[in-house]
Amino acid sequence: MESKEEKYELLLKQVRSVTEGEPDIVSVLSNTAAMIHRTFGFWWTGFYIVKPTIGAEAGSSDVELVLGPFQGPVACSRIRYGRGVCGTAWKEDRTIVVPDVEQFPGHIACSSESRSEIVVPIHDAFRRFVAELDIDSEHLGTFDEVDALWLERIVSSLWR
Ligand code: SME
Repeated sequence: MESKEEKYELLLKQVRSVTEGEPDIVSVLSNTAAMIHRTFGFWWTGFYIVKPTIGAEAGSSDVELVLGPFQGPVACSRIRYGRGVCGTAWKEDRTIVVPDVEQFPGHIACSSESRSEIVVPIHDAFRRFVAELDIDSEHLGTFDEVDALWLERIVSSLWR
């Protein structure tokens, strides 16, 4: 059987070849979510994108995470800075691995089936935080440093 590393190695190549030359971010994120989701059979795989809050005036810096392309059940549409695992990964600008979501203070339960989670920041060419990859598993302790490393590699070239 293929190891996790081998699966990720193949997945990285697949994501690069499918998204290469595609400038539209919705298209890129949609196919990337599908490829990650199908490779591992996760519970939920998707993206949150930094966008203006509802009713924010033009030029305002009032932004929050808004649900982007994903695979899996219905999820929270909007998440505020610093809230839940997603908002914390944004605030701290780092990958967060949560082996047991019930142990994470302020975890937002979009689904009661979710047991563990990983959130990986996505930056633009100026190193600004623009979006994040969020993956949920229905099992405890699904994600570790190997997932963090490979998923960081996979998302590193998405935003261009
Ligand atoms: N659990 C996340 C919210 C997003 S959903 O899981 C898709 C959080 O605590 O930020």
